[in-house]
Amino acid sequence: VSENVDDTLVRVSREADLTDRVVASFATCPDPRLREVMSSLVRHLHGFIRDVRLTQAEWDAAIAFLTRAGHITDERRQEFILLSDVLGASMMTVAVNAPTRSDATEATVFGPFFVEGAPLISNGADIGAGMAGRPCYVHGTVRSATGYPLAGARVDVWAADDEGFYDVQYEGGPLAGRARLYTDDAGCFDYWTVEPAAYPIPHDGPVGDLLSATGRSPMRPAHIHFMVCHPEYRTLITHIFVDGDEWLDKDAVFGVKDSLVVPFSVHEPGRGPRGRVLREPWSSVSLDIALASDSPHV
Ligand code: BEZ
Ligand code: FE
Repeated sequence: VSENVDDTLVRVSREADLTDRVVASFATCPDPRLREVMSSLVRHLHGFIRDVRLTQAEWDAAIAFLTRAGHITDERRQEFILLSDVLGASMMTVAVNAPTRSDATEATVFGPFFVEGAPLISNGADIGAGMAGRPCYVHGTVRSATGYPLAGARVDVWAADDEGFYDVQYEGGPLAGRARLYTDDAGCFDYWTVEPAAYPIPHDGPVGDLLSATGRSPMRPAHIHFMVCHPEYRTLITHIFVDGDEWLDKDAVFGVKDSLVVPFSVHEPGRGPRGRVLREPWSSVSLDIALASDSPHV
């Protein structure tokens, strides 16, 4: 039975009145930013429920989903970040916080596989020993967005191996494929590792179920993570992606930006950088990282 016009007006005004009353309940919130965030959250949440005419069963399913996400989360597994990632909320937060300068390197998602306490290495060291995959030499420079080389910038790197697994995913295994290093006087850093492979984000929990129920893939294209810090510049959290990877336009967490896709060159066996002699083919990649300043003219 379709609703008559009077009934529709009553329903719309009852729903709008509820939203107004909940928003008004924050009117005395002493923190103005918290008041703004909560009021907007309530408006959007109510708008969503009304938009899809959410059923009670659907609401119950949503609560059960969040409850499962809470139960599977611990120090090693963060299902809520995964949820934010697959909904594009992580990348939207990156986007709204991006510096307006367009000549700084673009940021992307942090992801769950960074660990504190990675080994501090000297430039040229090999962090790929014992890892599966083709040896890969990474060489980068860090500069200001206006072109000045930045000496002493701290560079954290982490990546999966050729099987698509991070060191921390091997039960009891050593740290590998991750390190902290510093740029030299010319703003350069370099290290040896192994070429990373594409991999699925953890998908044995509720977020994985959501991806399969919606016909989505959990895959991320092959990438290397970087976090670059310098006291006078904005910290950059980003990746480089391997050009040619088949998953570049299907990243489960929407982290790919064209400017971050770089070619990896493959070389014949023989002498490589830093005096390394290779009996197998190896690859190399060069990257140029530009840090944004928080002040407009530096
Ligand atoms: C990662 O690249 O490490 C990652 C990012 C988002 C979700 C899962 C993994
Ligand atoms: Fe990753």
